[in-house]
Amino acid sequence: MASDAPFRTIIEPFRIHSVEPLRLTTPEQRRAALDGVGYNLFSIHAQDVLIDLLTDSGTGAMSRDQWAAIQHGDESYAGSPSWFVFRDAVQHLFPFRHVIPTHQGRAAERILFEVVGGPGQVVPNNTHFDTTRANVEATGAEALDLLIPEGRDPSADHPFKGNLDVGALERLLTDRASDVPLVMVTVTNNSGGGQPVSLANLREVRAVCDAFGKPLFLDACRFAENAWFIREREPGQSGRDVIDIVRDMAGLADGMTMSAKKDPMGNIGGWLAMNDDALAEQARNLLILTEGFPTYGGLAGRDLEALAQGLREVVDHDYLRYRIRSTAYLGDALVARGVPVVTPIGGHAVYLDARALLPHIDPLRYPGQSLAVALYEVGGVRGCEIGTVMFGRRPDGVEAPAAMDLVRLAIPRRTYTQSHIDYVIEVCERVAARAGELPGYRITDQPAALRHFTARFEPLT
Ligand SMILES: Cc1ncc(COP(=O)(O)O)c(C=O)c1O
Repeated sequence: MASDAPFRTIIEPFRIHSVEPLRLTTPEQRRAALDGVGYNLFSIHAQDVLIDLLTDSGTGAMSRDQWAAIQHGDESYAGSPSWFVFRDAVQHLFPFRHVIPTHQGRAAERILFEVVGGPGQVVPNNTHFDTTRANVEATGAEALDLLIPEGRDPSADHPFKGNLDVGALERLLTDRASDVPLVMVTVTNNSGGGQPVSLANLREVRAVCDAFGKPLFLDACRFAENAWFIREREPGQSGRDVIDIVRDMAGLADGMTMSAKKDPMGNIGGWLAMNDDALAEQARNLLILTEGFPTYGGLAGRDLEALAQGLREVVDHDYLRYRIRSTAYLGDALVARGVPVVTPIGGHAVYLDARALLPHIDPLRYPGQSLAVALYEVGGVRGCEIGTVMFGRRPDGVEAPAAMDLVRLAIPRRTYTQSHIDYVIEVCERVAARAGELPGYRITDQPAALRHFTARFEPLT
């Protein structure tokens, strides 16, 4: 009699409906491309990349039903039916009173911090993402990371390494309550390894916020992946519907920022949501100034429709099981081959520990940059340095090593197959085998803020 036990192989819960060709390049072509752009992978032409793991942001494949939803897009300037479809889909998961659409996450951040930020203010978070930090700092405020110590240790074993350090938050608020306009928690913690935050931690953060009368905002780009980890790992949560866990997360917060290019499965989009009427009014006024009328933000009606459908799809358990398992497939294979990675494996990406793999390169010589360049040169795989290039320059211009030097291999949703990932594993293995030969880098040119996007580098020979 055949067994009904589940199979080990977690298959993609979809089949391919439309394909995009990939372009193969030679190592010589890739070396020339690197040289031509000052070794900055953001400046490489995407058609010169074979497997693009630079980001999971807006790079996923939309479903048949999302493309169909696009046909329902209504482009009325004000009060479009597509707006109400979008708003209802957001509020189904995140029942905040006000939903303010934006063209992407950083627009929501800019509006929020323009209203609540400013010189002398300090905004705590588990770890600010680069655009969040930059938008806080652009107002003259301080962006403070208060991650639990385990979250800063690439190999520490903890089920919720994205948790915020509640004791540190309490100390901050005891000392400087009047300087803190709100508390943020990023789910999952992108800059800290894609690690989840537990419901218990959110409850503790909420209690501290209540004690000091502070609002709590979620940076909720990867809310569904976070909820799946809660279901898998948090005592008492297994067997629950992810939708209910997401609503619990939202219920502990007063508002949120969102990049809809992640879990909402869009190629563009975002929103800012909140319960506070006065804050919402100020935010809408700023929205009208630069993004658009409050029923479309910076988005077309067709984008709003695609996002509403994406929000329905991302909370599907079969999808989330596949998503988290397929990311772990890459991470587990690298661990088995002795390549140092952040563990446990996060939700949307595998983070290579460049500082551990390249101990001969001082953090101020950018080991993450060196590793990311080598992955591209050897196999046409594009990852993203998340380390001293991204975070090492303070607002006063002084350079200091970031907490970790990582290379993020972010996996676009529903886009690459297992054989693509098997190829990535082989490329990482080959680069790791000659890690001792990789050079450090020096920056030859850089902008004042968000330097990783446009800085130019030179290998140190
Ligand atoms: C945690 C987090 N917050 C904010 C953002 C910014 O979103 P966007 O790129 O849509 O501006 C990102 C994007 O990668 C992110 O990962």
